[in-house]
Amino acid sequence: MLIAIVLAVAVLASLPWWLPGRVVALRVRVFNRINGDEAIPVPGDLVSVDRFKEVYSHPAANGRSKGAALSDLFWYWLSPGPEMHQEHLEAGERYDAVARTTRALLAVPRGEVEELARRCAARALDGARGTVRLRDLMMPLWAEFSYELVFAEPCPREARDLIAGNANDVVAALKCTGLRHMERRDRLTRYLLGRLSRVRVPLPPDLTPREQAFYLQGTFFNTAVVQMSEAMAHLLMVLAQHPGVQDDARDADDRHLDHVIAETMRLYPLFGIAHRVTTGDIEVDGRTTIPAGSVLCFNYPEFHRAGFADPDRFDPGRFDPAESFKPAKELNHIPFGVAANRPCPAWRLAPIAMRAVTREVLRGHTLVTSAAHTRSLPNRGPCLLIPRGEPAPGRAALAWMRLRDRWEDVWRSLVQLVLGTYMVWDARRQRLCERHFAQCPVTHH
Ligand code: HEM
Repeated sequence: MLIAIVLAVAVLASLPWWLPGRVVALRVRVFNRINGDEAIPVPGDLVSVDRFKEVYSHPAANGRSKGAALSDLFWYWLSPGPEMHQEHLEAGERYDAVARTTRALLAVPRGEVEELARRCAARALDGARGTVRLRDLMMPLWAEFSYELVFAEPCPREARDLIAGNANDVVAALKCTGLRHMERRDRLTRYLLGRLSRVRVPLPPDLTPREQAFYLQGTFFNTAVVQMSEAMAHLLMVLAQHPGVQDDARDADDRHLDHVIAETMRLYPLFGIAHRVTTGDIEVDGRTTIPAGSVLCFNYPEFHRAGFADPDRFDPGRFDPAESFKPAKELNHIPFGVAANRPCPAWRLAPIAMRAVTREVLRGHTLVTSAAHTRSLPNRGPCLLIPRGEPAPGRAALAWMRLRDRWEDVWRSLVQLVLGTYMVWDARRQRLCERHFAQCPVTHH
């Protein structure tokens, strides 16, 4: 009896060390089973790491959504209006008009980006101290930032809460830590519909007002807010885990901060996988042909590990030309995608804004964490925010944070398994992407 009790206690106490990993593996198996095995992993058997960029940049690797079962899942997560999300529009006039509008909204002089980011950061940090979740701390900041980019006026509190609530809902669903709340997302669509005439650049005239609202919601109030919040949460987690890097970053010039950002994005790329549907045959190496209609899944984390010595180690020196003998262009590093195939339109603006916010955070605070830091960041980045000049936390506070994080991981991984399985099933049932293209095969691609 005693042995049984001791064994049960041992199994229970060790749960955080083995259960989450197993549950994640099971979730991946369930996803693959439901999605089928249509996808071609890159790098993989057909395409080596050396050919990764070449295949990604191939003109025939340009189908975005149509024809991939995987798209039904992304459209489900990004609803409402996923058919107007820039990332998921097929090449054509509509895509060009939308991409042009995004470029116009993002074409802000550097000084103005810095000032806007700094101002939004100062507001978000006002009174912030103690234990925070970095992603939650960042969401209202980037909600206000995006609002000002789009409307060129300060963001009202009500709008900030709507935008942050919407972005939170999307990212929680994407990570399977929560379900979709469509009424919350619809409220933002209605709000944007009422403000279309206030957008500071002309919106594509051939879109209906509803389509214009969906476009803004998808690109500026989902993607921009989610990506910037996640990127900053990763960067601040890295600084919290590397006190030496944090101290250097405090007085660093732009170049050094850029190396820290580049290395953060190498280790924790925001995209796990980006997919493309091939619209023609692609020949690789002169012998293998990838046929039209294939779904290519470009694996960012794997590409970013290849070709680096000790790839799991955080080392900003890899991007310092004085230390590294490879020019940055030749490194396997594509945090904003590949230039030839619909890269991120914010590739110039994002690092400028990130540097400004980092400086504002470090000006007033020291960051400390003992929580786990993984690419998908399901714990939202637990961190201690200590006003500068105040004493560092004791060992007990950090031990408590670590223990709590581990146990949360057990519960969360089970939640993710259940909610993820449900959403994959629900998305396959709704078939949003497949049905969209079945209804309007001519005009929208
Ligand atoms: C640090 C922050 C960001 C990172 C690391 C990032 C990363 C990326 C990557 C890797 C892609 C290409 C994926 C692919 O090939 O399918 C992408 C596409 C995109 N990103 Fe970003 N992004 C960031 C911020 C933003 C922001 C602030 C916006 C706001 C406008 C944005 C809007 C988009 C759009 C619209 C696309 C699709 C482009 C197209 O298909 O034409 N991103 N992003």
